[in-house]
Amino acid sequence: MQEDRFSYQIFFERVFDPIALYRVEGESREVPNADRIFFVDVNPAYERVMRIVKRDIVGRNFLDVWPEAEACWSRIIVDCLRLGHTIHCEGESRDAGRYLEAIAFPLPRRRAAVIFMDKTEWKASDDALKRKQEELRALAAQLTLSEENTRRAIASDLHDRIGYELVVQLKMLRDLAGRDLPPDVRRKIGLLTLATERLISQSRSLIFELSPPVLKEVGLNPALEALAKSLLEPQGIKWSLRSRGTIGEFNADDAICVILYRMTRELLLNAIKHSGAARVTIIVNRGPGKIMVAVEDDGRGFDAGFSLEDAALARAAKGFGLFSIRERLQAIGGSVQIVSVPGRGATVAMSCPLKLRNGGFK
Ligand SMILES: Nc1ncnc2c1ncn2[C@@H]1O[C@H](COP(=O)(O)OP(=O)(O)O)[C@@H](O)[C@H]1O
Ligand SMILES: [Mg+2]
Repeated sequence: MQEDRFSYQIFFERVFDPIALYRVEGESREVPNADRIFFVDVNPAYERVMRIVKRDIVGRNFLDVWPEAEACWSRIIVDCLRLGHTIHCEGESRDAGRYLEAIAFPLPRRRAAVIFMDKTEWKASDDALKRKQEELRALAAQLTLSEENTRRAIASDLHDRIGYELVVQLKMLRDLAGRDLPPDVRRKIGLLTLATERLISQSRSLIFELSPPVLKEVGLNPALEALAKSLLEPQGIKWSLRSRGTIGEFNADDAICVILYRMTRELLLNAIKHSGAARVTIIVNRGPGKIMVAVEDDGRGFDAGFSLEDAALARAAKGFGLFSIRERLQAIGGSVQIVSVPGRGATVAMSCPLKLRNGGFK
């Protein structure tokens, strides 16, 4: 017994975390009060972190020693005695000038012990990490928009310059074809006409890939239908699109439409690559201030928690798709939700505001 007591004493003296022992005055049936807490003992770590000397505080009232203390530090002492179990709290301590985490333990004879953990450095790096995450998200949003701007710029250059020149060239070739020319020249003009027609059609599909014009002309739904048709039908996957909310009433920014279009493309490719589905449904719901696009398949499903939460692992082992969808949506105030039971299909739903906070395309 004596030896055990000795070990506890050594532990108390040497442990790196501050520990304080308190006594709360009053009858055991009474609800304890913060002004009745008195110091019984503190360890050297407490003296060091709180910058006080033990003999100056032992026996003194808590509020006399720490008149400016935040309420939580005395409340946990009182609450652990009142409730009879450990109580946890954390926060900035002005007196210590540190960010502390504390656990209060109730002891017999209206005593309580509080062990403090100095989490100042942890808090600073956690805050810095959160700031960095915010910055990264803002950057991701910026990247998405500037990627779209660049695509648009290339697409409109292709259309206005190269496309225009090709059409002029085709017209000239057709004029020539009507003339009375030697057979080998006519044959070559015929070949050139065909080649020019091919170039025009290729540049049109390139322009479409770069910046789907349907998005601007007729809106998101037909663009998604065209996308599903071109991606899913060649794979023999049946598809349909269901939509709620009138387009005229709840109009999304162009930039939002483009972002959702590109992400839906990734989800359709996922369904093709990973799900083995026979059927895919695209759901587009518009409401006040908000738009949701979901892709639902009847394939093998997957463990969504793994794909989204353990991003580093997901990236190392698998792709970047879902992770980047989540990051980019969060950056514009949206979110992604995955509902999937392995073996029973998957639904990935993307929601975001109809309008971009910081403007859209240039
Ligand atoms: N519709 C789906 N059906 C089944 N598994 C899926 C589906 N979508 C995604 N997955 C699983 O989640 C993983 C991560 O997807 P993603 O982030 O898009 O990366 P990638 O497509 O490059 O593998 C995929 O590798 C796959 O295992
Ligand atoms: Mg993918």
